[in-house]
Amino acid sequence: MTLAIIGGSGLTELEGLEIERREMVHTPYGEPSGPLTHGRLHGQPVIFLARHGYGHTIPPHRVNYRANIWAMQAAGAKQVMAVAAVGGIHEALSPARLAFPDQIIDYTHGRASTYHDDDHDAVVHIDFTQPYDAALRDRLIAAAHEAGVDAQTQGCYGATQGPRLETAAEIQRLARDGCDMVGMTGMPEAALARELEIPYATCAVVANWAAGVGRDEVIAMEQIHETLQTGIQSVRQVLQALISG
Ligand code: HPA
Repeated sequence: MTLAIIGGSGLTELEGLEIERREMVHTPYGEPSGPLTHGRLHGQPVIFLARHGYGHTIPPHRVNYRANIWAMQAAGAKQVMAVAAVGGIHEALSPARLAFPDQIIDYTHGRASTYHDDDHDAVVHIDFTQPYDAALRDRLIAAAHEAGVDAQTQGCYGATQGPRLETAAEIQRLARDGCDMVGMTGMPEAALARELEIPYATCAVVANWAAGVGRDEVIAMEQIHETLQTGIQSVRQVLQALISG
């Protein structure tokens, strides 16, 4: 059951990954964010891809989500763990904490968001009532518990278009909608994985308080990067427990 990991901001490479080969997969949807890295992590086979490219140069609205998910499946991935930086809206989601969302609201627009885009295909409506794979989520939650990593075990992810951060009013609206965290990459990634029937779950890393939630007047990129360093350490611990479990 090869696990694929999509690394988000702060996770452009997997520490401890014994790299075996890199594979550039050409897909009917164009090029993925970079070559897939095949290797072993704690002895288990994994496939890694940096969502924003290995040099972190592809902004969220320009990521070729269709090519990324398609390439991972073509390369043999049987499940996908997405790591994603988010802003915390719920008071429990303070910077550097992890969260495993169980719901998502899509506020993105203009992204290529389906594989069923041709008018010669029969119309397909995937079930997306539960956007994340329950079994993989459960395993992630158990892994965090086992690793002693403090994490929020549910929550609603609001996917915004970016690349700018939100206004305070937009975050208030997201909060009224029931969003607990906000990020820019959750959609269409989750829906595309469901279309290809790949179990998919997200490990969110809180990088900052969302706009207007914390005491900060301005959200500084340096602060985000610093916080992500801490959060990513927890992600590594979860990964180790997940893979060894
Ligand atoms: N908003 C949207 N995406 C994000 C944020 C945020 O505050 N922090 C990290 N990714």
